[in-house]
Amino acid sequence: MSVSAPKSRDAFASTLGAFAATLGSAIGLGNIWKFPYLTGSNGGAAFVLVYLLAIAFVGIPILVVELTIGRKMRASAVRAYGTVIPGQRFWAGVGVAGVTAAFLIMAFYTDVAGWVFAYVFKSFGAFLCGTALDGRTFGALAGGTWEPLLWQAAVLALTTGIIAAGISKGIEKVTKTLMPLLFILLIVCDIRALTLPGAGAGVAYLFRPDLSKLTAAIVLYALGLAFFKLSLGMGTMTTYGSYLPDETRIVPTATRVALADTAVSLLAGLAIFPAVFAFGGKPAGGPGLLFNTIPLIFSRMPLGGLFTSMFFVLTAIATIGAMVSILEVPVAWIIEQGHLGRRGAALLTGGLMFALGIPATLSQNPLLAEVKIFGKNFFDLFDFMSSNVLLPLGGLAIAILGGWALSRKDFAAEMNKGYASEPWHGRLVFGILKFLTPFLILVILLSSLGVINI
Ligand code: PHE
Repeated sequence: MSVSAPKSRDAFASTLGAFAATLGSAIGLGNIWKFPYLTGSNGGAAFVLVYLLAIAFVGIPILVVELTIGRKMRASAVRAYGTVIPGQRFWAGVGVAGVTAAFLIMAFYTDVAGWVFAYVFKSFGAFLCGTALDGRTFGALAGGTWEPLLWQAAVLALTTGIIAAGISKGIEKVTKTLMPLLFILLIVCDIRALTLPGAGAGVAYLFRPDLSKLTAAIVLYALGLAFFKLSLGMGTMTTYGSYLPDETRIVPTATRVALADTAVSLLAGLAIFPAVFAFGGKPAGGPGLLFNTIPLIFSRMPLGGLFTSMFFVLTAIATIGAMVSILEVPVAWIIEQGHLGRRGAALLTGGLMFALGIPATLSQNPLLAEVKIFGKNFFDLFDFMSSNVLLPLGGLAIAILGGWALSRKDFAAEMNKGYASEPWHGRLVFGILKFLTPFLILVILLSSLGVINI
């Protein structure tokens, strides 16, 4: 966001800048923490297969609509949806649901990001002392009281500070330089994990699907992950679309973002599962999977402790780009109301998110571990409500908007900017968007509620 567009709105300077920022929002804990943990809890390759299909037939088309509507309206998500069809203000509900989702996501996201930041120091400390981290480290951290809360507060303060200062330029630069490093380190992890004896079982676990394992609930998790991963269904990508240069070709950009993001998830999976199997661990390790596995992978290598802390440093950096993009959704809306400036809006949002984050963080603590709503603790409830309910519902509305409610001509004109005539992929995405995406989301939502049986 470095060059001012007309009307003095922020804008990405180039297509490459837009690509990097969009990817910066997409890549985060979703790839390194959530993808492996959900894959492990939902039976492996069959989940991965459904996830890949969800990215192709739901994720990419919705990413295209969000970027298109954002660029067309050049406004915050709530305003963009509320005014995209004159006389139909109710679409603003998509933006309002998105703001709600942003709060729920941040409540647990900052908890996990706090664990990542803590691990940077813990692993470095262990390296200096010549010891290694083990399963007890994670249990003590996540199940503690003050320690996880302080880390969460620190992470939120950092993100709020960045948003308040509006230093997106710095963040963009840091993310752009360090993202390739994360990629390289993931490949180092992969090589180490794949050369462990017994690694093959992990690869098979990830890539040889047993479709009999699929249930409606698992399919819903895969769909929810696709939304969460590409930051969809809550206005983040609409906001980023509003900074997109006119010459950026939306369909190829969206496709590249989805491909790069998916590659990072698969690389993380290829590091974790072979190691889990080689060390005789359980794939269904839950939210602690990443934290228990990565130190183990590196512990058998020279300078392993150093690699472990580097891995968590890079993961920590990846979380910042994602968190900034989540926080920006409510902040942009609050600023638009005109009562608060950027700093006030950032502080208010960050404070509310911390309040909501406390029950999520303490849900692994004996204090709140037994408090269950719909059979889920606060952490899982916030995650479920956002990823599996609000984001798919928002996505459904967005798909209906793009495929049916907006004029096909206007929509195509914006989507295909940069081309002399409508390219084949524009027509393909539009066809999928109209005839496949909304129905897929609807069927998955209804069948997971037990309303229909497939
Ligand atoms: N895509 C981010 C990740 O995978 C999370 C995110 C969700 C960011 C929703 C913005 C909006 O970590």
